[in-house]
Amino acid sequence: MENLVLFKVHMPESVDEPLLKVLHSGFIGQGVKVDEFEEKLGNYFGNNKVLTLNSGTSGLHLALRLANVGIGDEVITTPMTCTATNMPIMATGAKIIWADINPITGLIDPEDIERKITNKTKAIVMVHFGGIPCDIDAINKIAKKHNIKTIEDAAHAIGSEYDGKKIGNHSDFVMFSLQAIKHFTTIDGGLLFCKNNKDYERGKLLRWYGIDRDAKRKEFRCEENILEYGYKYHMNDICATVGIEQLKYIDGIVERHMSNKNYYDKELQNIKGVAVIKKPAIAKSSSWLYTIHIEKRDQFSSWMTKQNIMTSRVHERNDKHTAFKEYQINLPNTDIFSLTQISIPVGWWITDDNRSYIVDKIKEFSAKHL
Ligand SMILES: Cc1ncc(COP(=O)(O)O)c(C=O)c1O
Repeated sequence: MENLVLFKVHMPESVDEPLLKVLHSGFIGQGVKVDEFEEKLGNYFGNNKVLTLNSGTSGLHLALRLANVGIGDEVITTPMTCTATNMPIMATGAKIIWADINPITGLIDPEDIERKITNKTKAIVMVHFGGIPCDIDAINKIAKKHNIKTIEDAAHAIGSEYDGKKIGNHSDFVMFSLQAIKHFTTIDGGLLFCKNNKDYERGKLLRWYGIDRDAKRKEFRCEENILEYGYKYHMNDICATVGIEQLKYIDGIVERHMSNKNYYDKELQNIKGVAVIKKPAIAKSSSWLYTIHIEKRDQFSSWMTKQNIMTSRVHERNDKHTAFKEYQINLPNTDIFSLTQISIPVGWWITDDNRSYIVDKIKEFSAKHL
């Protein structure tokens, strides 16, 4: 049996020709390919207020800036994620306030969010862990009541849906990562979807030093007054060219992830010592990860490695890192989730034979050791 990995880079050969053309075109910065990519992304996601960026992390930082988060503010967020979710909060000078998670799904708990709100709370960050959408309606309702902005970290959730609409349409800001091993990659890259036009227009300026690249000008672009400082977070035409090609494959990729997920949902029921995560009926997960809970996790992981099946915890709770130590609080459900969660291969490269082999091996482990 070949090695069944958790992550794989999807890079179709059809990228080669357009990529070489742009590479040698004499223009490789942010130009027509970025415009074309953004138009196509608007159609795919159903929201044309999209900013292409150089990474998902930049997208989160930009979203926090657009939400006017700064020194002295508080941002409520989840500890159960990639550190990339929470480091941009630190970069704004705001204080991180952890909300606890659901002990089974690992998703941020709306009730705990509400308990943590103070008059300093400026934004709430939710993460669709593994691709499973959070309780977006409940969180947005709480946020609206307290006049707080919401940011979705949808790095894992390209193609996921909530209440009949693709993720990318529900909150003030939604970030996607187009980094190497995500559902679709532009090598590195990120997307930030905005809900309102004012944020989108301001975001367009702030991703490129605050300069209005669309303005009519007499001579050169630096002649205009810059209203506020910005960043160098834009995407370039090389990455956009890769993205335009990748978009042609995204439906097939998401479909295969979902098909594997549905198979596991069915086949991993009622196995001793194993619990699957039930998705809310209102949501569809594009399952970037397939996370289960298992007893004797370390033993399981070593055993699966021997069967040529890669497993991983993927993300470690952030709150225990020294970098975040000043924000530490008691998070009992994060303790529970962290103890038994592990992900198994679910991606587009996992065939029917592969997934039935993986299920057999999980059953075998359970029968022998649990
Ligand atoms: C949950 C989560 N948020 C944010 C990011 C950051 O995205 P990027 O690597 O594109 O900056 C990642 C990246 O893997 C992630 O998994």
